[in-house]
Amino acid sequence: MSRNLFPFASRFSTGSSSCSMSIVVLSVVGCLLMLHLYSLVSQPYIQNKEIHAGMSSHPLLLKLEAVEEENIKMPRQRRHSPRSAKRKPRHTTTLIDEFLDESSPIRHIFFPDMKTAIDPNKDAGNDSLYYYPGKIWLDTEGNPIQAHGGGVLFDERSRTYYWYGEYKDGPTYHAHKRGAARVDIMGVGCYSSKDLWTWKNEGIVLAAEGKNETHDLHKLNVLERPKVIYNDKTGEYVMWMHIDNANYTKASVGVAVSDSPTGPFYYLYSKRPHGFDSRDMTIFKDDDGVAYIIYSSEDNSDLHIGPLTEDYLDVTSVMKRILVGKHREAPALFKHGGIYYMITSGCTGWAPNKALAHAAKSILGPWNTLGNPCIGGNEVVRFTTFFSQSTYVLPFPRLPGLFIFMADRWNPANLRDSRYVWLPLTVGGTANQRPLEYNFGSPLWSRVAIYWHKRWMLPDIWRKKK
Ligand code: DGJ
Repeated sequence: MSRNLFPFASRFSTGSSSCSMSIVVLSVVGCLLMLHLYSLVSQPYIQNKEIHAGMSSHPLLLKLEAVEEENIKMPRQRRHSPRSAKRKPRHTTTLIDEFLDESSPIRHIFFPDMKTAIDPNKDAGNDSLYYYPGKIWLDTEGNPIQAHGGGVLFDERSRTYYWYGEYKDGPTYHAHKRGAARVDIMGVGCYSSKDLWTWKNEGIVLAAEGKNETHDLHKLNVLERPKVIYNDKTGEYVMWMHIDNANYTKASVGVAVSDSPTGPFYYLYSKRPHGFDSRDMTIFKDDDGVAYIIYSSEDNSDLHIGPLTEDYLDVTSVMKRILVGKHREAPALFKHGGIYYMITSGCTGWAPNKALAHAAKSILGPWNTLGNPCIGGNEVVRFTTFFSQSTYVLPFPRLPGLFIFMADRWNPANLRDSRYVWLPLTVGGTANQRPLEYNFGSPLWSRVAIYWHKRWMLPDIWRKKK
């Protein structure tokens, strides 16, 4: 006699057909249970959740994960003369139009003026150590920091942070009528800090070449997104960067080296890695000391990733295509709980667009796309990555799960006045937050979230734990 474990089945059948129905349902449930168990065992979610739960118990981290809304009021539609109104159909401006319009009456919201600059020299009182994404950020000499498209290296030897980026303190112009806005190469700027807030200008550590027009670093070329890593075996600081000509057809990477984090860096050469065009790029040093290059290639349609040689001075023959056909750039790679994560942007020149978070168990792929990691602000703020573009994600090895998301708020009309958007990025999320992706009802990847804050600071425990 067979007992019907699934009474609802008997409504549709009786006798032996009821028995086979039960077997089918039981098998399906069994399979689903197996899949659920497999996903729990095989993916890092639980592990990360535990680490993160510990972190989240700190009230200051909870504060960083608070969702902060932003209410940006659109200006009233500007008046057009009756004649121009006849000529053009009326166009409703959006917040993105306002951001891109140099003469917008709400420009100060996106590009606050010098009066509101973050100045570590001033007795900032209660504002000390606070990040204000988008405000002008001054160095210890009182000048706006010039480190665009940059990255931060923590130098274990001096226990100091070094921020490297494009030094763009020159006039913006267009080399050709339809060419992108540009600033001549000046070099790579370097700033040092112990607290990640007070930055001392260490000067231009890789300078442009003034005379030799055939040199990669001749001022009329392009040098973007420099990143520096330290090679423990050779004791050298190695810089990789995007090298191009003014119309972005050289599409190469450049390599420079120094025995000191503050340079001067010695420029070695440029090449097309693995024989392919390479535009936006970054490098990533893994826990085992192997370093990788990740670059937008095949006309920005794919990303390529591959290990560097042991001395970090070249690529190897290994290369994998990832996010194929997804048209992503501005990659910023980081690791947490044994899983690799990456933030990328879309390809819209200097204009902001939607970020995506990706994750992979192996750095060479396959990579999964998790979704837009931006939280808070409003829909437009989230859709434009807080009006900025990713450049680097800075880890705090002693505070697992917390990172600083570093991005550039480009000002194409005046690139030297582009701003920095630094925001907390967490992996794991608090227990009551749902991860971005589901696999048969159970999460496959941890949640990657970047939280909008007008004003925020790192938890105090970070300073004590250093
Ligand atoms: C977007 C890239 O991410 C930037 O680094 C720069 O190359 C601009 N495009 C130029 O339009």
